[in-house]
Amino acid sequence: MAEIKNTLISTPQKKLELNCDVVVPGDKSISHRSMILGGLAEGVTEVSGFLESADCLSTMRAMQSMGVKIVKKDDKYLVHGVGKGGLKPPKSGKIDCGNSGTGMRLLSGVLAAQNFESEIFGDKSLNARPMGRIIKPLEIMGAIIESDENETAPLKFSPVEKLKAVNYQSPIASAQVKSCILLAGLYADCETVVSEPKLSRDHTENMLQGFGCQLDVDKQNLTVKMHGGQTLKATKVVVPADISSAAFFMVLACLSENSQLTFKNLCVNPSRSGVIDILKLMGADIDIVNETVNAGESIADVVVKSSQLHGIEIPHEYIASAIDEFPILFIAASLAKGETKLTGAMELRKKESDRITVMADGLKKLGCDCHELEDGIIIKGGKLSGGIVDSEDDHRCAMSFLIAGQFAENPITVKNCENIMTSFPNFLEICKNLGFDIV
Ligand code: S3P
Repeated sequence: MAEIKNTLISTPQKKLELNCDVVVPGDKSISHRSMILGGLAEGVTEVSGFLESADCLSTMRAMQSMGVKIVKKDDKYLVHGVGKGGLKPPKSGKIDCGNSGTGMRLLSGVLAAQNFESEIFGDKSLNARPMGRIIKPLEIMGAIIESDENETAPLKFSPVEKLKAVNYQSPIASAQVKSCILLAGLYADCETVVSEPKLSRDHTENMLQGFGCQLDVDKQNLTVKMHGGQTLKATKVVVPADISSAAFFMVLACLSENSQLTFKNLCVNPSRSGVIDILKLMGADIDIVNETVNAGESIADVVVKSSQLHGIEIPHEYIASAIDEFPILFIAASLAKGETKLTGAMELRKKESDRITVMADGLKKLGCDCHELEDGIIIKGGKLSGGIVDSEDDHRCAMSFLIAGQFAENPITVKNCENIMTSFPNFLEICKNLGFDIV
C-alpha cells in the first residue's frame, strides 16, 4: 500500500465519465468490533474482509498486547480468543489507540472491568476528544478511572473485582457510548440497560448476538438490555464493505456526467445508510440491489448514477445514520443547485476535527457561500473555484476536499492528508483506477 503524503493536489479532469464496479475496503466499525469480541470469545474467530487501516490495526495491537494471539492466514485473520476473563495486563501497561475514538471508547469498556491496571491514550486529536461521555456511565458501574480535568485521555483504569449493571439513558445517540457500556456490562452481575435518544449504529448488538450472547433489542424504544456474565463463543465474521468509504465515490458518481458506479457488497444497515437517504432527497439516482442479510447486517450492491443535485433541509431523522458522511455531503451541497441547511448536528464538532468549522473554512476558501451555525451549517450551492485548504488532520475532510477537486474550476490543494490511512488506505488507488490522479 502506497504511503499517503501530507499535501495532495486534486486536479479537475476535463471529462470524467465513470462506468464500473467499485469495491471499497471493509467496514471500520465492524472491523474494530471483530478484534475486540473475537479476543473476548472462547475459541478461534475467523475474520474475513478486515479493514487493514491504521485505526483498526491499533485495536488489533491493543488486543494482542493483552495476550490475544491474532494471526493472518491468507486473506483472513484468526483471532485466538482468550475468553472474557483471560486478558492479561497490556505489555507496556499502556494502550495506544492512535487516532481512533472507536478503539478508545470500546476498549475502555473492557479495560474498566479488569482486575489489572491499564492506561489508554491516543494522538493529539484523540487526546482532545470528550471522554466524559464514557467515564460517567463506567463510574456508575463501579469503574475507577483517572483522566485529566477536561475528562480527556489518557485514561487510567484501576483494577476492580466486579462491575455493577447499570440502567443508563445516554444523552447522545452514540454507538461508541452504547458499545462501551455493553462491553462493560458483560462483566456485571445483573441486567445492563442502555437507552439512546436516536438509534445509533447497532453493530455491537448484532455482533454480540453473532457471538452467542442474548440481548433484548427494542428498536421502538431505542433500548438494549443485556444480562451480564454471558460468555462469547467464537464465530466467523465476514466484514462487508464500508458505506462511509463508498460515500466519497457515491457523490463523485452523482456529480460526474454520463456515469454509473456500482458499489459491491456494501453494508446498508439502516443505522448506517443515512447518506443514501439524504442524497436521494437531494435528487440522486441511487438503487439498492441484491440485498441480503448476513449476521444481522443488510448487505447489498448500490448503483449510483449521474444526477442533478439540489439543496435541501436535512431531516434530523437521518443525522445519526449519516454522522460520518457530512464532510462529503457538504461538498455535494456546495455543488448542488440551491441552499442546503443542516441543524441539530452539534456532534460533528466532536469528531476527529470540528467538522463544521473545518469544512466551512475550506469551502469558503474555495469560494463557496456558506455560513456556520452552532449545530450545523447553511451552504449555498454553486461553483467551487479551487485553492488551498487544510483538512486539520481529519481523514474524512481530506478525502472530501480531494473529491471536490474534480469539480472545481482549478486544482484544490489539500494539506494534512496523512490520516486518510486511518480509515481508507487505498483511497488514492481507487481514485487512480477511476481515472483521476491525485498527486
Ligand atoms: C462509530 C460510532 C460513531 C462514528 C464513528 C464510528 C462506531 O461515533 O462517528 O466513526 O464504530 O461505533 P459516535 O458513537 O461518537 O457517534
